[in-house]
Amino acid sequence: MKNTNTTKAKDFVKLSEEWFDNQAKVYDKTDTILYSKYGKISCKDICDYLSDKKYDSLLDVGCGTAYLIDLLAKTHNAKHIGLDLSAEMIRQSSDKNIPNSQFVVGRSDDLPFGDETFDVVTCSQSFHHYPDTDKAMQEVLRVLKPGGIYILSDTGVGFFKMVGVAVDNFIYRHFSKTGDCNVSYLNKTIRDLKRNGFEIEKGENITTFIYTVVAKKK
Ligand SMILES: C[S@@+](CC[C@H](N)C(=O)[O-])C[C@H]1O[C@@H](n2cnc3c(N)ncnc32)[C@H](O)[C@@H]1O
Repeated sequence: MKNTNTTKAKDFVKLSEEWFDNQAKVYDKTDTILYSKYGKISCKDICDYLSDKKYDSLLDVGCGTAYLIDLLAKTHNAKHIGLDLSAEMIRQSSDKNIPNSQFVVGRSDDLPFGDETFDVVTCSQSFHHYPDTDKAMQEVLRVLKPGGIYILSDTGVGFFKMVGVAVDNFIYRHFSKTGDCNVSYLNKTIRDLKRNGFEIEKGENITTFIYTVVAKKK
């Protein structure tokens, strides 16, 4: 029998890949909602949280053009790795020649790294593109060292909660070409992280439609 979940997942991943391959060259300089506006807000929030934290190795899943790693590398003497589905986004990242950084094409649900590799994993404005969010969380848990931190900042439906999720995930995603397929909100993401084995350090709505959660591997 045909596995419809796999078919669905393939389609959204392909849409995201095409969408961001096409955006890559203008992503940084186009400061609107469909481009880098929300990413810049999330990246700044993640940087603020990490400003007084020491770490040796950080993985940014869905790194895009390395906006976050570029900022972090200025203040943290650590190894920074960026992973993204889009080869064109990775090309933009690599072309920035950020010291002590490395960029790889890959998928959030199949991270090409060994168990317990990173002190910190970040994910800025990428999570709502993942068809299998449980697998993405489990992969982060696997590659984090014990005590490691996962910082997830994403677009959510704010106070619309379940109604917003239903509209976004069951209506919008069927005609959108952006690859969006899993919009959520703060409390739901916190529940999902706990169910997948994380402890929650902090979670807040940083704007009406953007939230950040800091979670920890026990
Ligand atoms: C809105 S951009 C955000 C980029 C960057 N993190 C930022 O905040 O500016 C979303 C990024 O997630 C990547 N992405 C989408 N689905 C992915 C997946 N399944 N695995 C890895 N990366 C993915 C896209 O290619 C894109 O570069």
